Amino acid sequence: MTDDPKSDLPALSFNSNIAALPKYNAGLTLAAARAVSRRHDIARLASNENPYGCSPEVARVLASGALEIGRYSDPGCEVLRAELAMRLDVSAAEIVIGNGSEEMIAAAARSFLTSGAVALTVAPCFGLHEIEALAVGARVVKVPMTDALGFDVTALAAALATKPSLVFLPSPWNPVGAALDALQLGELVRALSPATMFVLDEAYREFVPPEIPDGIRFLRAARVPHIVLRTFSKAYGLAGLRVGYAVCSDSRIARMLFAAKTPFNVNAAAQLAAVAALQDEAWMRAAVRRITAERDRVRNELVARGVTVAPSAANFVFFDAGLNGSVLARALLKDGIVVKPWLEAGYTQFVRASIGTPEENDRLIESVERLVGAPALVEAALVDGP
Ligand SMILES: Cc1ncc(COP(=O)(O)O)c(C=O)c1O
Repeated sequence: MTDDPKSDLPALSFNSNIAALPKYNAGLTLAAARAVSRRHDIARLASNENPYGCSPEVARVLASGALEIGRYSDPGCEVLRAELAMRLDVSAAEIVIGNGSEEMIAAAARSFLTSGAVALTVAPCFGLHEIEALAVGARVVKVPMTDALGFDVTALAAALATKPSLVFLPSPWNPVGAALDALQLGELVRALSPATMFVLDEAYREFVPPEIPDGIRFLRAARVPHIVLRTFSKAYGLAGLRVGYAVCSDSRIARMLFAAKTPFNVNAAAQLAAVAALQDEAWMRAAVRRITAERDRVRNELVARGVTVAPSAANFVFFDAGLNGSVLARALLKDGIVVKPWLEAGYTQFVRASIGTPEENDRLIESVERLVGAPALVEAALVDGP
């Protein structure tokens, strides 16, 4: 067996776009982290999850008898869409629910990109913004971040002027942390051609400071065709249930995304849980307050130790490890801390760490203080495995 499926199964007609896809850089599972580190107390800071779990209302609803495991789920997610429509002040016909917002990234690529089309995004990029575009045969153009670790709005506007078929912009930006302010968003909207589908990925929307505009309201007022993506995986703490959504500028765009997904894509437990989570907004807000306070503390502590850390409007920090990020990540794993080293060309000295509980964050700060800028210590940490 080799990594190239075509060499082992030459008679099959492989889709060459899929065969050539880069691997998604997923965080280590708990079991793998324990096996490799030989520690039990793992700080899971690789996947930007909510360290406090989710609202107790979710567990209550799932145990209440409302969940009909033997029945297919509602393919239209009617209850959840109605709840969201009311809260977001949009029509339910403009909302499509996905098996995670990642499914809506794939649906947007399938709906608005064809083979040879150009998809624009940023570098470093959220893996799926590139992978899903490549999967449909598009060419991906990336605009790098500035030296100040932010959006290069001028370069993005220039790239938008070339009329790509679609743009995936994360705000807040995974992995960097920056969020687009009203001036920046305005400049991008002005550069946008009617031929470009603008996809604003607001997976981390709940963590932004108050001056960052709400993408749904901003883009509606700007009257450009767009899709805004949001998720229950981060602030609402439902990552394991897989539920996110797209809010489209137009019900015809929503119908495209609906057609591009599988029919029973959102399972019944996820639909019930998302509605329950929405109804306990207070729990989410309280968790977000704790996480954002910790985010600012973690960044300040790391900066005070001489680490270059990007400003963050999300629930993670992106920092320069001063050495290969994968090497630092392996050394951190020895301390029972899982982070995400960035593997994209040009950014391999960076590491992204999610904000955990205060105790987990203290462990991260202590370990980074010991290891960053001390390559000899990192090497020593790695000599006797893992
Ligand atoms: C920017 C961004 N978009 C989308 C997703 C996908 O989230 P989910 O599929 O869990 O909703 C993530 C997850 O990390 C993300 O960071």
